[in-house]
Amino acid sequence: DPAALQSFHTHLLKSRRILALLGAGLSAPSGLPTFRGPGGLWRTHSGPSLATPQAFAANPALVWQFYSHRRHLALSVQPNPAHYALAALATRVPAFQALSQNVDGLSQRAGHPPGQLQLLHGTLFAVHCSDEATCGYSAPDFTDPIVPALAIPTASQTPGGKPLDISHPDTPLPTPAHHDLPICPKCETHLLRPSVVWFGEALPSAVLDTVETYLDDPAGVDLMLVIGTSAQVFPAAGYIAQAEARGAKICVVDLEAGGGGPGDWVFTGDAAVVVPKLLEPLIGAVAAG
Ligand code: APR
Repeated sequence: DPAALQSFHTHLLKSRRILALLGAGLSAPSGLPTFRGPGGLWRTHSGPSLATPQAFAANPALVWQFYSHRRHLALSVQPNPAHYALAALATRVPAFQALSQNVDGLSQRAGHPPGQLQLLHGTLFAVHCSDEATCGYSAPDFTDPIVPALAIPTASQTPGGKPLDISHPDTPLPTPAHHDLPICPKCETHLLRPSVVWFGEALPSAVLDTVETYLDDPAGVDLMLVIGTSAQVFPAAGYIAQAEARGAKICVVDLEAGGGGPGDWVFTGDAAVVVPKLLEPLIGAVAAG
């Protein structure tokens, strides 16, 4: 709708303080499954049912396989034009902060300045000791030699050289014994775990503080982009109303009409196509990167 786009562009060019809430739909064009859409299941479990401390306590090997699979997938795909457009916006608008629910590292690989990217739900590429309270070990850049027993066969290791569809329930996967799983090198007792925020866990306090400080600024918020998220998971989704309460106009980008909730502007389409168009007046035409 050219009128809506024009009206959005007018507001964008007047905006100084911009927030974005990013969800799995931003990375879907890159080929990563979302959580609640088709393909959002993982083998015989739904992703969210594995993203819990209870699942990890009950079956750490299964949870490690889930996260190794997701890390494997994330490394095998590329950032898309929407990631690059948001990274370009960050370099042009110093008071732009992206609040990302994604743990896939694609925004970082698109060159998004780390100081303007708040990882609300952590990252697949860091681990810490599962006995957080007493041990405190963490490794910010777990380069993941995937635990041998979890090793996911690469295309060259499979018959016919075809990559295995390891998310398919019938694809045989090694079920690693507990002793195959990564043990904390500091306490040498407890398992390492992915530094991803699980359901029921608090968001990283440093991230919470950064977002709260941003929202408490008397200058308020001019614009909040809501991109590729069903906005059903809190406290992340709560930032939309908080931004609105501080004056922000809301712009929703979602593949499904109605996805992501209401907004002053709602653009239905693929984030990889829509986001670069929305930001073009500020960032110029975005190369696919
Ligand atoms: N372009 C734009 N939007 C898309 C696209 C696309 N190509 N593909 C899917 N979407 C939309 C879907 O319509 C949906 O509204 O992205 C949204 C994805 O929603 P979810 O799957 O619920 O993902 P998300 O909102 O990121 O989930 C939030 O839930 O499971 C937890 O911690 C996990 O961070 C995750 C949180």
